[in-house]
Amino acid sequence: MKPYLIAPSILSADLARLGEDVENVLKCGADVIHFDVMDNHYVPNLTFGPAVCQALRDYGISAPIDVHLMVKPVDRIIPDFAKAGANYITFHPETTEHIDRSLQLIRDCGCKSGLVFNPATSLNYLDYVMDKVDVILLMSVNPGFGGQSFIPSTLEKLKQARRRIDESGFDIRLEVDGGVKIENIAQIAQAGADMFVAGSAIFGQPDYQKVIDQMRLELEK
Ligand code: DX5
Ligand code: ZN
Repeated sequence: MKPYLIAPSILSADLARLGEDVENVLKCGADVIHFDVMDNHYVPNLTFGPAVCQALRDYGISAPIDVHLMVKPVDRIIPDFAKAGANYITFHPETTEHIDRSLQLIRDCGCKSGLVFNPATSLNYLDYVMDKVDVILLMSVNPGFGGQSFIPSTLEKLKQARRRIDESGFDIRLEVDGGVKIENIAQIAQAGADMFVAGSAIFGQPDYQKVIDQMRLELEK
């Protein structure tokens, strides 16, 4: 397993030239494409559905696509994203009545499954499902928008999540999403994260290669 994965969030990409922009960020060294799905119900913003994911596949994007669902209810959209080419599908525990069932549904659809924790959501939701998650995603901002500042208490929460993963013995990624940038990525990695979503920090700069290279240099520290 690659030790660190960098996952640019297309929320901050040039949406009028999405295929080209995604192709470019992958050429510049991104590992995974983070795909934020918002419904203007669970979160106060509206973004993309499975058709856009399929369009990226049809355009020729073959990199892993990490679909972060911020929609309620969540179950009925899971198979559609799996068919549209998602590799990872993650959701917030507050968006389903049946967490175990939704996790299983994702795996049954052939994808890697994950739970997402808002800054104030307890990690205790993991208690009985560690064997059903491939990724744990900690939000370091309140979900809905790109360009927000990293909430510092996430560092302690990352350490707790890292302990849970290590004690479980399962092969689980620890992903962080929100306010990740060159200046804080090393500290976030030291707290235990190994998968880093970055929207504005990458797509907000003209030279993606430079940002990603600098992030990797920080991760080597
Ligand atoms: C926020 C989204 C994030 C967002 C991160 O709800 O889940 O993926 O795009 O954006 P930045 O990196 O700009 O904080
Ligand atoms: Zn996200």
